[in-house]
Amino acid sequence: MTETTSGGTAPITICLLDAPPEGGDPGAILEVLRRASAMTEEVWFDRLGHKDFTELPEANLNGLLHQQYARKREVIALEGEVTGLVDGPEGLPYVVPTTDLADARVVASCYVMNSREDNPHLLSEVEIAVAAGRRHQGIGTRMLAALEQLARAWGATTISGWANYLGIPEGEKVMPTDGPFGVPVEDEVTRFLQKHGFALAQTERHSIQPMDGDLGVFGEPAAPEGYTLEVWCGRMDPAVAEDVAHLSTVFEATMPHGELDFQPETYTAERVLAGNEVTHKDSDTVNVAARHLATGEMVARTTLAKYLHKDEAAWQGVTVVLPAHRGHGLGRAIKLAAMHEARRRWPKLERVHTWNAGENDHMWAINESLGYRTAGVCGAWQKKLS
Ligand SMILES: CC(C)(COP(=O)(O)OP(=O)(O)OC[C@H]1O[C@@H](n2cnc3c(N)ncnc32)[C@H](O)[C@@H]1OP(=O)(O)O)[C@@H](O)C(=O)NCCC(=O)NCCS
Repeated sequence: MTETTSGGTAPITICLLDAPPEGGDPGAILEVLRRASAMTEEVWFDRLGHKDFTELPEANLNGLLHQQYARKREVIALEGEVTGLVDGPEGLPYVVPTTDLADARVVASCYVMNSREDNPHLLSEVEIAVAAGRRHQGIGTRMLAALEQLARAWGATTISGWANYLGIPEGEKVMPTDGPFGVPVEDEVTRFLQKHGFALAQTERHSIQPMDGDLGVFGEPAAPEGYTLEVWCGRMDPAVAEDVAHLSTVFEATMPHGELDFQPETYTAERVLAGNEVTHKDSDTVNVAARHLATGEMVARTTLAKYLHKDEAAWQGVTVVLPAHRGHGLGRAIKLAAMHEARRRWPKLERVHTWNAGENDHMWAINESLGYRTAGVCGAWQKKLS
């Protein structure tokens, strides 16, 4: 897939990255990830006004090295002469450790995954980023064509991904079937995705919780009557993995998925522990669970995650309360305890990012009471391949 676009004279090659052999030198694979990370940092800064979403190349390599539960690739557009690419089974060339990149630039990148178990029909997490100076030259369109080729080669029939929009859009909007938030019609991402046959399947509220103020104003952590709270940081004790797997499965089954062509996933203790191991290669976590005193059952949990290299920003992960135990204040109690623990463990933390389905009023009420403020909207787009 080497061609010259109308924007320049250097050839542009769309290629794939997979994991290097275990324990081997990642060579050019890591170097492409470094160049891609520098490019996407600028793209997200232009669009969202912050650099919290910049990923370390080493973290992306770590992701590629763990494909037990999902196939993963980075799809990359390289501008410039590159030698030593290797033909792949999907009909697209691969960068391998020995590829000679010379001074080729990464002008577009996109991570994708394909679940091996519950959603093998789905090529997901697509979020193409094209370098600011290289837009409107057909590179995004070529990236999408490569993604569709990959999807077809893997037997996937739907492509889905997320696009972030800063603030609550004003003016004419594309609306999902459910929920209060739309995305702006007059936006290059909306236009691009609609033109290529994607439909808006769901929207989520992106919100940010300031973590540099006095947390005492939100109250002191306490378990509701009849429950006890357990806090752990870092890697999980394998003894709780079965409980966590059950809660994660309930979370997937009960959270809103809008029109997304997505089957709620089933978690086992083994899968939970494998995911926990991958997370802790480049991140630290704060976890709070609630147990029902009468039965000893773990009935709620929440988790916060922070990259090891980034002190100022963290992410809210899964928060779930088993349906039979809802209405007792457990959701707020575990989140409040996690905030206080995060303050102790990560004293330089300034903010936490979270995303919730626009129609998930109950979760938003809890978040708002803990200081979260709306930052923007995230649209889930999908395309069913014919
Ligand atoms: C959305 C995005 C990926 C599109 O990338 P792109 O490379 O500009 O896409 P293309 O060039 O293929 O198409 C964009 C437009 O350029 C036009 N175009 C394509 N080739 C062209 C050419 N040779 N000359 C002039 N215009 C051209 C297309 O017709 C299209 O026009 P339209 O918007 O009026 O319909 C890019 O805007 C981006 O990176 N945005 C920020 C990151 C982001 O939020 N990504 C989420 C997306 S999933």
